[in-house]
Amino acid sequence: MSSQAEIAQRAYAVTTTNYRPAPIVFERGEGMWLYDAAGKRYLDFAAGIAVSALGHNHPALTTAIAEQARKLLHVSNLWINRPAVELMERLTAISFADRVYFANSGAEANEAALKLARRYHQAVRGDQKRHRFVCTTGSFHGRTWAAISATGQPKYHKGFGPLVPGFDHVPYGDAAAIEAAITDETAAVFVEPIQGEGGILVPEDGYLEALRDICDRHGVLLIFDEVQTGVGRTGRWFGHQHSKITPDILSSAKGLGGGVPIGAMLCTEEVGQGFVPGVHASTYGGNPLVCAASLAVLTTIEADGLLANAESTGELLGAGLDELASTIEGCVAGRGMGLMRALAVDPDVIDRGAVKAACEARGLLLTTAGPDALRLTPPLIAGPAHVEQALDILRAALTDVAGAAEAGK
Ligand SMILES: Cc1ncc(COP(=O)(O)O)c(C=O)c1O
Repeated sequence: MSSQAEIAQRAYAVTTTNYRPAPIVFERGEGMWLYDAAGKRYLDFAAGIAVSALGHNHPALTTAIAEQARKLLHVSNLWINRPAVELMERLTAISFADRVYFANSGAEANEAALKLARRYHQAVRGDQKRHRFVCTTGSFHGRTWAAISATGQPKYHKGFGPLVPGFDHVPYGDAAAIEAAITDETAAVFVEPIQGEGGILVPEDGYLEALRDICDRHGVLLIFDEVQTGVGRTGRWFGHQHSKITPDILSSAKGLGGGVPIGAMLCTEEVGQGFVPGVHASTYGGNPLVCAASLAVLTTIEADGLLANAESTGELLGAGLDELASTIEGCVAGRGMGLMRALAVDPDVIDRGAVKAACEARGLLLTTAGPDALRLTPPLIAGPAHVEQALDILRAALTDVAGAAEAGK
């Protein structure tokens, strides 16, 4: 048996150097908890970056995967498989969408969304000019070339130029800036209903409605990137469902598979006409294994009332973060919705990396996001006792880090 430190050294020797993981080797999970190779347990408020919607080792999910694996793993999109049909029907039932395309990740779902928007204007409407996208600063849309080009954070662009042309960026939350950036070359407005990697930024009420109105007036499509906000994370199936409007195209991933890799692009009947046979595809997309898993995730969210739970448990988490923000020096504000939350800190006062490590030492997993956020995105099964425990550990970790900084002065 190798120690975790030894396994970490082996990982560092062979993984590509874009990854710099903490030296913790996870071996198994159960519900809200993860266990490392030394048997230490961690309360999981990271959920694999907002992925593990049902927590770990959920019997509905593991049974669905095992049963499907015994029946059929893969056939391709040249033929039909039952779990994919059922999942497409389910996704259209819980959303605005008439049609569904399956991908394998968030970035790929976004690629499909962007390609569909251009195809719709150019091939269906015969408007060859419309190819540009209005996006927002601070956004994150994934790591493919088009997705980084849409992403409004220069750190993801550095060293990758030239980027894909056709992406304009305006400040997030400013509908007037979006309208000012639209020209007769604009194909679509592309935004996250809540910015995730940007630091859990919730726009003011009315922002999404204003975008819908602007897009309609200018003949431009509205695309929501719901890769992080979707599948119950904010207390609704999709984040935009807190508003009164719907997009033309939506991308989903992360929680959709509860841990298996799946992405989906959802669209209206009208816009979906942009895709005709052969113009876009994915070998693995809609594979029966991941679709069976995703169906189990959606069925369990519904059967166990996890949307309502995300809302009510999220309120408790939000209140606790507000309390930390008002009582601990360097903590600025609680932010977020449902179980997509952040504690914003002053990075000049609080070293977020040190807080994350102190949480890990005390048995809590969380992530950082944007320039100032400690991010908490637990599985949707989190309850009040988990929130209380996480807040206690986070408070203690913030105290550890403040004490260490004081001692180092
Ligand atoms: C809003 C958003 N879009 C897209 C992505 C990219 O998803 P993936 O890493 O599955 O490609 C992410 C990942 O964090 C995301 O938060």
